[in-house]
Amino acid sequence: MEVFRSKPSVRAQLAAWRPAPIVLVPTMGFLHEGHLSLMRLARARAGDAGRVVASIFVNPTQFGPGEDFDSYPRNEARDFDLLRAEGVDAVFAPEASEIYDPQAQTIVETTELAKVLIGKLRPGHFRGVATIVTKLFNIIRPDAAVFGEKDYQQLAVIRTMVRDLDMDIDIIGAPIQREADGLAMSSRNVRLSPADRAAAPVLSRALDEAAAMAPTGITASRLRSHVRARLEAEPRARVQSVDIRDAATLETVSGPLTRPAVILLAVSFGQVFLIDNRVVHPTPEEP
Ligand code: PAJ
Repeated sequence: MEVFRSKPSVRAQLAAWRPAPIVLVPTMGFLHEGHLSLMRLARARAGDAGRVVASIFVNPTQFGPGEDFDSYPRNEARDFDLLRAEGVDAVFAPEASEIYDPQAQTIVETTELAKVLIGKLRPGHFRGVATIVTKLFNIIRPDAAVFGEKDYQQLAVIRTMVRDLDMDIDIIGAPIQREADGLAMSSRNVRLSPADRAAAPVLSRALDEAAAMAPTGITASRLRSHVRARLEAEPRARVQSVDIRDAATLETVSGPLTRPAVILLAVSFGQVFLIDNRVVHPTPEEP
């Protein structure tokens, strides 16, 4: 596995590899099984002849003031070992100074999607994400890129940006990987205290209950209240938001569910901000 720190060096390698298909998996590192599942999907899309490229970059512009940029967990040597074991062909792991020109003045923003849900809790976050992902797409020029459904709104932002700006890149969504007790895997989970770690599966339990209630003809607002009450019953949880949106468009929904909806949770435990989501269906799901 080749490690690249600079834009010219990674570009030269990619030029030598093309026309083999290139599949990119952008990450901020501190990799877990969720990230590795994306690498496997990338390999399946690239095929034996293709090349899988991972990026590791804790992107400063998507963190707000007072957020956890400085304390975001990092362990590059371990990440490289995990990527090597997955058969990833190259990793792009630049310093911030390689990525951002101090004179830069161009941003990419999905104007409406960036303002709602997580975008409301974290102003500027999705502008930072859309801009760094555009830059990574321009540096790597992949044929396809893989993103997790764990960050449901982020995936919607990326798909919208790719559509609106005519980016010729296939966006592949990957299912959420969970710990045995249901907690969605996240690089931030290691920062939970033992008591918070024990309480955190309340998110996935609330989502499971909601999925079971969805086919009963329940209204969106009752379902939302039920989930919120379930989360608030856990004293360690600080509920930041509970939303039910159209699963395809992220538009608000009201009344009895008629189409697949996504329940989006943002909950803090101490200083640690966790998100989770689940698509629920108005008709019983196939087993
Ligand atoms: P990061 O949080 O490192 O996540 C990288 C990718 O892994 C994202 O597409 C995310 O949705 C996916 N992922 C994380 N946890 C997952 C899980 N439990 N199951 C499945 N997929 C999971 O998301 C980012 O980095 C950044 O915003 C980035 C896109 C790299 C831009 O900086």
